[in-house]
Order: sequence, then structure tokens, then C-alpha cells
Amino acid sequence: MSGSLVKPVYPRLRCQNGGTDDSAPYYRRDLALVHHLGFAFHANETAPGIMALVEPLLTRNGLVVELGCGSGLLTRHLIDAGHRVIATDASPAMLELAREVAADAEDIRLLVLPDDPIPPADAIVSVGHVLNYLPDEAAIDRALVAIADALAPGGILAIDLCDFGYGEARREAPNLGRVTDDWAIVTEFSRPSRGRFIRQMAIFSLNDDGSWRRDDERHDNVLIDVSRVPALLAGRGIQSTIGSSFGAERLPAGLRTVIGHRTDG
Ligand SMILES: C[S@@+](CC[C@H](N)C(=O)[O-])C[C@H]1O[C@@H](n2cnc3c(N)ncnc32)[C@H](O)[C@@H]1O
Repeated sequence: MSGSLVKPVYPRLRCQNGGTDDSAPYYRRDLALVHHLGFAFHANETAPGIMALVEPLLTRNGLVVELGCGSGLLTRHLIDAGHRVIATDASPAMLELAREVAADAEDIRLLVLPDDPIPPADAIVSVGHVLNYLPDEAAIDRALVAIADALAPGGILAIDLCDFGYGEARREAPNLGRVTDDWAIVTEFSRPSRGRFIRQMAIFSLNDDGSWRRDDERHDNVLIDVSRVPALLAGRGIQSTIGSSFGAERLPAGLRTVIGHRTDG
């Protein structure tokens, strides 16, 4: 199999912080780069819908805060559309890539949900089921409250979240393998309970001397009943609806959108 399976977006990118983020639970150096090169489609496909939702901010030069920005793929779309963006993530390796991909962001900073303070914002956006990475449902609720409280009057919310249906749709999902000239990844899926979805990944990356190295990551996602989120947000002044897309894109089964705005204040 050749590298033509994956169209590199920024093929010259190199994440240099190997060794400094060994304790990071998710998206260390090698997986961060593989995500950027091989799994950009979600951010790119959701971008048009998100751009339409936040478009009203342009006339008032509003600030967009992005949570779990990863390597800055959606950030790049936001900046290119003319937005001021603070892009945030919990992974130092992802942030290092984002600093190259979206160098002209207002700021790119470490922000670990649910407890790191979220800057006040005119819009908060997040794609790639970032909140499902939190340790339990209570932490997801805490993050949702913090997000709501950071939204300015009239502020816009656009995030995606995995429902229980995400795990149900993948109950028998076979292992997934992808191979390119520079990297390969093998992913094993499991669903130990209705509210848990696990990806066990082996990531292989080519060293400069032609040898290969391996890293392993286990992504433990918490699935929730997303239909209860609007009531939680309503208690913090946010009117929201659950949907199956941000715009015209088609999202994977069980990945739901939460789109809303602050109605009080
Ligand atoms: C599936 S990736 C999506 C990245 C990016 N939004 C995209 O669509 O390409 C999930 C992201 O959530 C981030 N993340 C995981 N746990 C987090 C936390 N507790 N706080 C903030 N970000 C977190 C990861 O580092 C990763 O960048």
C-alpha cells in the first residue's frame, strides 16, 4: 500500500516535542502527526457549517474560542474566514502542530477541560468529540457549564459530542489499519459498557535513519445521552438544539451536534 491513500495536508510538519509529553494521556507526538496527516477530514468537513454559524461575529470582530483544536485544522478555516481565534487543547504535541498550521491565531494555548478557565468568548466551537475524552459524565457536565458561563451575551455555541448510539453503531466494528510510506496505524475498538468506547492504537512512525518506532495509545471515551444537554445548558442561559450536522456535512452515526446561543444577559 502506498502513501497515496492519505493526502498530506502539511507534509513538512515535524512535531519536535518527543520526550516532553510522554506523560500526556492522549495525542502524544506520533499520534498527533498521524491525526493531522491522515484524519483531517472531520475538521475539514465540519468547517463550512461552523463558518456559517459564526459568520455573524465578523461584523463585530467577535472572539472565537476553540476547545480541543488539535493540530489547528478548524482553526485554519476560522482564521481564513477572518475570525479572531484563541485555539486551545490539552495535548502539547497537538498545540505544537497548531502553532505551525495556525500561526496567525490570536493565541494558541494549553487548556485542559473541564477545570482550566475558558476565556470569555463570543463563540465557542469544538469538533472531534473533545468532551467525550473527559473521565466521566460529571466531568462532561462540568465542562458544559464552564463553556456556557464563558459565552458572552448573544454568544454562539457549536460543538459535537458522541451519544450512546456512537458505541451501538460500532459494536462489531472490525480493527482498522492504515499504512503510508511514513506512518501506519492499527486501531482496535471495544465497548465495555453502554457508556464507554475504547480505541486501542498502535502507531508506527518512520525515523530519519529509516528505522521505525512504535507508540501505543488507548483512548477511553465516555458516551452520554446527548438529549439531556439542552436542559443543562438552559439552566445557564443557553438555548440549544441537538442535531446530526453543523451544516450540509454527514456526520458519523452517534456523533451529535449541540448548537446554541446565550439568550440572557
Ligand atoms: C479527535 S481529536 C480532534 C482534534 C481536532 N478538533 C480535529 O477535529 O482535528 C480530540 C482532541 O481533544 C483533545 N482533548 C482530549 N482531552 C482533552 C481535555 N481534557 N481538554 C482539552 N482537550 C482535550 C485532544 O488532545 C485532541 O486534540
